[in-house]
Amino acid sequence: MNQTERETRNAFIAAVPKAELHLHIEGSLEPDMMFALARRNGVDLPYATVEDVRAAYRFSNLQEFLDLYYLGMGALIEERDFYELTLAYLERAHADSVRHVEIFFDPQGHTQRGVAFDTAISGIVRALEDGEERFGISWKLIMCFLRHLSEEAAFETLEEAQPWLDRIAGVGLDSSEVGHPPEKFARVFARCRELGLKLVAHAGEEGPPDYVWQALDTLKIDRIDHGNRALEDEALTDRLVQEGHTLTVCPLSNLKLCVIDDIADSPVKRMLDRGIKATVNSDDPSYFGGYINDNYRAVADALDMSVEDMATLAINSFEGSFLDEATIAQRRAEVEAVLKRHAGL
Ligand code: ADE
Ligand code: ZN
Repeated sequence: MNQTERETRNAFIAAVPKAELHLHIEGSLEPDMMFALARRNGVDLPYATVEDVRAAYRFSNLQEFLDLYYLGMGALIEERDFYELTLAYLERAHADSVRHVEIFFDPQGHTQRGVAFDTAISGIVRALEDGEERFGISWKLIMCFLRHLSEEAAFETLEEAQPWLDRIAGVGLDSSEVGHPPEKFARVFARCRELGLKLVAHAGEEGPPDYVWQALDTLKIDRIDHGNRALEDEALTDRLVQEGHTLTVCPLSNLKLCVIDDIADSPVKRMLDRGIKATVNSDDPSYFGGYINDNYRAVADALDMSVEDMATLAINSFEGSFLDEATIAQRRAEVEAVLKRHAGL
C-alpha cells in the first residue's frame, strides 16, 4: 500500500460512522482531568505531575494496569465528576465519527470507596442524555461486575441498580480474569437474563479458551469482550463463526497489557478472515494511548488491511450492538454510502 492509499484509508477511518462497544468510562479519565478533579475534591494522588502519571502507564499484564485504574478513579467523587468524565469521552468519540456507544461502568469501583451508586450512574446517564442531544450519539449503558469480588457483592450491586434498570441495557464482567472464571457468576447472570438485561463478559483476554466456553455455555452471553484466546481452540473458533458471535477486540489495549507482543500480532484480521464478527474498540483509551480511530489505524497499518476491511469492522460494530434492527440497517447503509464515496476517489 502506497502513501496515497494509506491516506485514503485513514480518511475513510476518520469519516466512517462506527459504534464503540467496549469502553470503560473510568478508563477514559485523562491525566489532566484526573489531576483537576483530585484537586477540586481534595483527593491525594501518588503523582506529582501529569507527566508522572503518563510515565506510570507501563504495564506488563492486566493486573498492573488494574491497580492504577482503580487508583485513578479515586479522583471521581461528585455527580458532576462522572458527568464531566462521560461528556469529555463523548466529545472525543464524536470527533472519531462514533454514532453509537455501549459504555461500561464499574459501580463497585466507586461504592467500595464510599461513593454512592446513584452518584456515579446519575452523572454518567445525564452526560449520555446530553451527549445524544449535542452530538447525536445514541447509547446503551452496561453495568459491570468486578470478577475479583464475590458473587454476593455482585448480587448486592444488582439490588442497588434496581431503580435504574430502565437505563441499564446490560451487565458485563471485568477486572482480574485469571482465577475468576465466568462460572463464578452463573447465578447472577441468570438473574440478569430473567430481568431482560443483555449479557456480556470479558473472556479470553488473559484467561484460557475454557473461560470463553463458560461465557457461552454457562453465562449465555450475547457478546464476548476481547476473546483473543478463543483462536487457540479450533472447535471454539468454529462455534463463534457458526453462531455469529461478536467479539469486541481492543488492539492497543492488547499491546499495552502484553496480551500481544506486537500490534502486528493483533487477531483482528485473522478473525475477520476466519468469518468471526470482530469489532475494534479502545477499552481504556486514556491508559492505552489511543481512542477508537487510533485503534482502527493501528491494525490497518500493521496488518495491511483495506478500506473494505475497515468498512466491515464498522458494519460489525453496528450489527454486534444492542440497537434495534431498523437502526442497524440504517447505520449499515450509511457505512456503505461512505465506502462508495471513497471508492470513487
Ligand atoms: N477493566 C477495565 N479494563 C479492563 C480490561 N481490559 N480487562 C479487564 N477488566 C478491565
Ligand atoms: Zn475491557
